[in-house]
Order: sequence, then structure tokens, then C-alpha cells
Amino acid sequence: MEAGHWLARARARESIWREWRHELHAHPELAYEERRTAAFVARQLRSFGLEPIEGLAGTGVVAVLEGRGGDGPMIALRADMDALPVAEANTFAHASREPGKMHACGHDGHTTMLLAAAELLAAEPAFSGSVVFVFQPAEEGGGGARRMVEEGFFERFPVRELYGMHNWPGLPAGQFAVHSGPVMAGTERFRIALRGRGTHAAMPHLGKDVVVAGAALVQALQTVVSRQVDPLQPVVLSVTQFHAGHAFNVIPEEAELAGTVRAFAPELFVRIREELERIGKGVADAFGLSLRVEWDEGYPPTINTAAEAARCAEVAAALVGAQNVRREEPPSMGAEDFAFFLQHRPGAYVWIGNGASEGGCLLHSPHYDFNDEILPLGAAYWAALATHVLAA
Ligand code: NI
Repeated sequence: MEAGHWLARARARESIWREWRHELHAHPELAYEERRTAAFVARQLRSFGLEPIEGLAGTGVVAVLEGRGGDGPMIALRADMDALPVAEANTFAHASREPGKMHACGHDGHTTMLLAAAELLAAEPAFSGSVVFVFQPAEEGGGGARRMVEEGFFERFPVRELYGMHNWPGLPAGQFAVHSGPVMAGTERFRIALRGRGTHAAMPHLGKDVVVAGAALVQALQTVVSRQVDPLQPVVLSVTQFHAGHAFNVIPEEAELAGTVRAFAPELFVRIREELERIGKGVADAFGLSLRVEWDEGYPPTINTAAEAARCAEVAAALVGAQNVRREEPPSMGAEDFAFFLQHRPGAYVWIGNGASEGGCLLHSPHYDFNDEILPLGAAYWAALATHVLAA
């Protein structure tokens, strides 16, 4: 099926899909609480004649569409459904009605585009094999994809490959960015507990000051990236929390620091762990304190496989022209839990331009909104990708 065919079909449905998107935007739900959203998704899927499977990874929804073209591989298209704990600053009619919760990353748009694609494909399943529509919960830090994998996603749906898509503010509407290789960084979180001896602020010589030591440690940790890692390797180490003390006249006994590391190469995480612990131990020793470091594995890096990325680029080019498909865009230091699926199967995760990022339309900003103009393009991309990969 031609890309142009899907785009024409999508344009005819555009106004209805906007309504879906606004409905989802007005009722954002946080990770693993996407009950209303999941029910909406399941209801729509049923209306296309599909039989959604609910309750995967808690609130996830999956539906399989068999092509009419006979046997063939199974592929998955995935969207995320969760919102963020952000208070929406927008005042338009579809703004969040849930205080302190907001679709500030466009997962309302992702859910709508995948539902829209399911609608298009269910009406014309002219492909061989089958398409699995995956609506996953908890992308924002909850690891919904990891939980789906742990609950047997690949045993239940033995897909050959998977595809993902995220809207990208700053990338013009009508463009795609397709990376071959790394697209989103991997993350780890650390927590450092410094323990000294509390004392009167006027008698510091009687204690062991964790505040002065903590300040030195924050400074020293800046040298992990700047002095210990190859400058040609993209790495971020940010200390984002420093908690100590409750009174102006007391030197506290303990301080807690926390932060995040972002990188693409798995071996760099090993190196950074070692360096952070070595420097932390050295600083603690220098100030006569004890130190404990805890690590929390975040998301692995999202690495697109070359053949699948090439297919995505080909389909995107058929829709918007090769000049509007960016192949050399630098990857993002943000993270994405689609990476957990890509640890098991080949696939690719692309960016669809959300338009200008002026006026605070940035991911996770209280001023953000998904761009409705790109709904038909995203839906047509999904449909065209499926029929291209599963050409009957
Ligand atoms: Ni997101």
C-alpha cells in the first residue's frame, strides 16, 4: 500500500483523532495508573473489530491484527500512555483536569497515533503476517516496557522486530529523524550517604562537617566526566539533590546527595561507577567521614538496529520526501524505556517533528502540548511502515 494512500485516509479521519487526543490530554494518568486511558484504548480497539488484551504490566493493552495476505512475520508497534507529575500551565479547553498531572511528553499523541494506525490497518489489512499494537504503561521512570518483558511479552507475542516513535519539539512538523545506532542515552541513578559527627555550629572543631565535605564532593564529582572520560564520549553526571541539616546553628550528622549518569556505551557506566566511588571514598577519608553509595539501574541506552532504521527512513521518505528525513541528527541524552524491548529484538525508535519549541513547548514543560497537525502523518507512518515491512 502506498504511503500516499495512508496519508489520504488519515486526513479524512483527522478531526475525530483530534477529539481522542484532547480527551486523553484532559485526563492524564501517572505511571501504572492509566486505567481510564487503558479503558479508552481497549474500547477504541474493540470498535475496530480487534480483541484487546488488557492488564499487561498492570495497565498495558495489547492487540494483534492478522493480515489478510497469509503467513508472515509478526511485528510490534508501540506507544506509551502515561503522563507526568507536572501542573499544566496551558489554559486551552483540553488542558488537564487533573491537578498536578499533565501529558507534558505527548504520550496522549503517541497513544492516539497508534490507535489511529490500528483503525486504518484494521479497515484494510492488506499485509501478510501480523501487527501487534502495544500500548505500554509507565514509560516515565516506571519501566513499563521492562515489566512487559518480564511478564512474558516475547513469549506471548513472538515478534520479529519492534518499532517506536516519539514526538520531537524543535524538529519541524512534517519531518522525521531516524538514527542508525544510538538514539537515546542510558541512565543510572546514584545516592550517596555521608556520615560525620553533628555538633554546634559555633564549635565545628568538635564535629565532622558533612556539609563542607558534601560541597567538596559535588565539586570533585565534576572531574569524573571532565578528567576521567574520553572527551569524544558523550557522558553526563549531574548531582541533582543535596539534603542536609534542619537548623541554622547545628552542623548536621548526615548528608545525602543524589544524581544521575547518562551515557551510551555500557562500559562507561562501569567506569563511572568506579570513579565516583573512588572519588567519594577519597573525599570522605580526607574529611574523616564515612560514605555509602547506592546505585539504581535506570534505562539502558536505546540503540536502533541499522536494517530496521533504514526501513523506517524509507517509509518516512515516502511520506514527506527524503529531504525531510534527518539521518544525521545527534542522539539525545534523555532516556527511553523502549530500550528494554530493543535488548531482545531488533527495531527502531524514530522522532517525528512536533514543530517549533518556542513558548515553552518543550518535553516535560508545563507549557508543552502535542501538535495535533502531525496526528495524520504519525498514523500514516505507522500504517505505511507495517504494510511496507509485511508486504503481502
Ligand atoms: Ni516521552
